[in-house]
Amino acid sequence: MKKPYYITTPIYYSSGSFHLGHCYTTVVCDAIARFKRMDGYDVFYLTGTDEHGQKVQQKAQQAGVTPKQYVDKLYDEIVRLWKRLNISYDKFIRTTDDYHEQTVQKIYEKLLESGDLYKAEYEGWYCTPCESFWTESQLVDGKCPDCGREVKREKEESYFFRLSAYQDRLIEFYKQNPEFISPKSRMNEMINNFIKPGLKDVCVSRTTFDWGVRLPFDQKHVAYVWVDALSNYITALGYLQPDHANFDKFWPADLHMVGKEIVRFHVIIWPALLMALGLPLPKKVYGHGWLLFDNDKMSKSKGNVVDPFFLTERYGVDPIRYYLLREIPFGSDGSYTNEALLNRTNSDLVNDLGNLVSRTTAMVTQYFGGEIPPLGTLSAREEEIALLLNGSTDKVRQDMEQLSAPDALADIFRIIQRANKYIDETEPWVLNKQGEKAKLATVMHTLCECIKFAATLLKPFIPDTADRIFQKLGLPSAENFDGLTFGGIGEGVRVNKGENLFNRIDVEKELKELEKYAEEKTAQPQEERIDVSDFAKVKLCTAEVTECRRVDNSDKLLLLTVKIGEETRKVVSGIAHCYTPEQLVGKTVILVKNLKPAKIRGIESNGMILCVSDGQKVVFVTPEQPTGSGKEVR
Ligand code: MSP
Repeated sequence: MKKPYYITTPIYYSSGSFHLGHCYTTVVCDAIARFKRMDGYDVFYLTGTDEHGQKVQQKAQQAGVTPKQYVDKLYDEIVRLWKRLNISYDKFIRTTDDYHEQTVQKIYEKLLESGDLYKAEYEGWYCTPCESFWTESQLVDGKCPDCGREVKREKEESYFFRLSAYQDRLIEFYKQNPEFISPKSRMNEMINNFIKPGLKDVCVSRTTFDWGVRLPFDQKHVAYVWVDALSNYITALGYLQPDHANFDKFWPADLHMVGKEIVRFHVIIWPALLMALGLPLPKKVYGHGWLLFDNDKMSKSKGNVVDPFFLTERYGVDPIRYYLLREIPFGSDGSYTNEALLNRTNSDLVNDLGNLVSRTTAMVTQYFGGEIPPLGTLSAREEEIALLLNGSTDKVRQDMEQLSAPDALADIFRIIQRANKYIDETEPWVLNKQGEKAKLATVMHTLCECIKFAATLLKPFIPDTADRIFQKLGLPSAENFDGLTFGGIGEGVRVNKGENLFNRIDVEKELKELEKYAEEKTAQPQEERIDVSDFAKVKLCTAEVTECRRVDNSDKLLLLTVKIGEETRKVVSGIAHCYTPEQLVGKTVILVKNLKPAKIRGIESNGMILCVSDGQKVVFVTPEQPTGSGKEVR
């Protein structure tokens, strides 16, 4: 029976479009998952989307859609992105999936039963974009330590998870499992910054918004997004569900791959939750570094993003996968530059790999009519190459055990570079001229072996290219590393030279093009200006609110009766979440007077009240001094 291997990416936030930094975790995991599959493991590769929380609710509100409509659109986009990047996940989980929501409810019930959950009042500094509460001492210059944005004081009645009770068990677990937090440097960071100051119980429910999993025993509360999100790793396998075969087979996870900024959730809260649920802990949490752009984390809020759709469209999927896997030192941060991408593509894929394949297939076609000739007697040089090839799978396997795709690729490219050098050393064109057919046959066969090894080992990293190489060699694409030994290419195999694998990029020209593209993209669209005559069409006036009541069955709408001089009108306004009717009666507001009437919830509204809004909070506009109603506003 195959050994199970369970690997996960974090589930992605759906709060904007996705950039190349996001692709990093998923591409790295994809290469590991593909490698393990070829190496004989029964792999379950999980990814998904993290769809609840205040931030999503706010963004949806700003976009004028429901939160579900909002996340559906982003879900479509990420699925399209993973398809484009050839990501071979076995399951995609959405935290809005019914089975997930129901299981999160069961998890909360279990925690309540075991006494790990209790109700109390919480007060702290809350960062809305990060959905995190911080203590005073964790703030950096009074701002969120993760994203540097403003935090606000929030107080609410909440359920708490008894994290403090797990401190000693966590420390003991880290001691017994020194590889659990990887790379090692992250372990010290966690212990010094979070464990040593002492673990506090965490607030794991919210009442200030409702886009989340409702707690079954207290419907006013929704689950804290991090508990909701982390649980995905077990709900996706069927934990506490009728069909739990995958859970039985794959839990505990072999590897949670995450970006360094979310390691703490995965190595503190997550194991403690699992302990509370009586479940075994994951074997490893690996915190990789960030993809930087202009020396800063690539992130949408910083506006320094690189669009993966654009790049893959322009250069192909495998050069982008290859770049991410080869160029970014694993475990550390790495800077993205167009120049490095283009140079890497030219030097490794076009020069080394592409040339080797095209030269070899061309020579086999020219000297042997396209059929790979048999191996003759091996010289010391071929013996040495055979040794290199036969040792390569183990070497790459060791690299991948360290999860280091850059090292694995460097080792695979050693084969390719050795083969190119071998062509220069043996000068097949001279052998041909001298009529040394047997020697020439051995050289050609040896080169094809090198290419076969390289393609087999490259397949987890750049799968499409590997398939194309096998096609050129006239061999079926390798499905695993079994039987990969020098001399394995049988008789009667015909190569097909075909087109080049990759085309050389004119780096200078391309850099200019990319710069132009970036300028066009960042150029601010000119705000449309209107004529004063356009503005004059809008009739604004002061109006006094004489009556006001809530619109039935609506949390947002108020029905206002306003006086404009002698005239009385009814106006419906969506400000009930910020004002009570009593707060408005007697106030002077500014009304758009000549709006066409509109029916809102069956009530005819005649005009619109001017308000200042940040997308959430709304404040109505009023004259600075008393003016009386019906006065023109210009
Ligand atoms: N939703 C949480 C994870 C919950 S897991 C239970 C989250 N989502 S995220 O969309 O913000 O990030 C998803 C992954 O993308 C994380 O691993 C994150 O580190 C990674 N990246 C986002 N920007 C990145 C870079 N610029 N560079 C490398 N990876 C980064 O966090």
